[in-house]
Amino acid sequence: MKDKILGVLSENKEELSLEEVASILNVNKNRIEEHIESLKSEGIEFKISDEKYKILNSEKKKLIDELKESIKGLNLDYNFFYFKEVGSTNNIAKMMAENGAKEGSIVIADKQIKGKARGGKKWESPDGGLWLSIVLRPKSFPSKAPIMTLATGVAVAKTLQSLGIDAGIKWPNDILIGDKKICGILTEANTTFNVLDYIIVGIGLDSNVEIDLFTNDVKKRVTTMKKELNEEVSNIKFIELFLKNFDEVYTKFKDKKIIEILNEWRKLSTTIGKKVEIRQPLGRVYHGDAIGINNEGMLIIEEEDGNLRRIVSGECIIKN
Ligand code: BTN
Repeated sequence: MKDKILGVLSENKEELSLEEVASILNVNKNRIEEHIESLKSEGIEFKISDEKYKILNSEKKKLIDELKESIKGLNLDYNFFYFKEVGSTNNIAKMMAENGAKEGSIVIADKQIKGKARGGKKWESPDGGLWLSIVLRPKSFPSKAPIMTLATGVAVAKTLQSLGIDAGIKWPNDILIGDKKICGILTEANTTFNVLDYIIVGIGLDSNVEIDLFTNDVKKRVTTMKKELNEEVSNIKFIELFLKNFDEVYTKFKDKKIIEILNEWRKLSTTIGKKVEIRQPLGRVYHGDAIGINNEGMLIIEEEDGNLRRIVSGECIIKN
């Protein structure tokens, strides 16, 4: 029901009253009110005037309409749910997927207040950045889900390169300019009886964030598109360019052309050929030369004694 409410409110140009939302969805007004209260507690901001609800201004709606027009003809049908402020776009996308949202549903927010990074860390997501999550429902095995992280990295890096930014990928999912991070990807998969039910691919791109909006710790480690190009590229324009690349890699993924995706990833990688340190939970640390990735997307490192170790997950620190 919640995703239906979000869907109705984000698709309507006009603000709607509770009665109107209730009548569109053919349910009791009280139920709508309860769900709106619960959505508010999840961080979704509603514009309320004269008891009318709206989550998207009409200017944004126009941009989204233009975006939809410019990506017509892609393989997947993309639908946008744009919010001013949310907890985490991944959480909203998950909630929508649980309620049956179609693949290609995209949640975008101007700002996240509970943005999530890998390893349970917080992802700083102030205004100006691109915070976006895509619902996917590929018919593949759960073990293939990590490949979608790499595939998304390929699409982001190619998009940045097409804008003249020299982006590379640090295993598994950091998009870097030199040694500064510009984008992170968080993939969350849901499986039922060893069948992939849905994947949420979350992308956090520091597109036009004013660096000063980040905390000191993050400031040192990141860059933005605006800083690299000395001008803004609108988030909507970036999404348009990105979705063209994303649609291509996702089609390859669905067509089981994993080798092609991995080869593209290898070309864009800034990890292979470097000395790395891998930090895993519980304090496990490995050192070695990153010599490649295997067909499951695991990083292969050659340790000092010549042992080849496959790394499934962890934080990768480049040493040279
Ligand atoms: C990482 O590098 O650790 C991954 C960061 C992913 C951040 C994005 S922002 C949009 C989406 N919603 C979230 O809460 N997280 C992802």
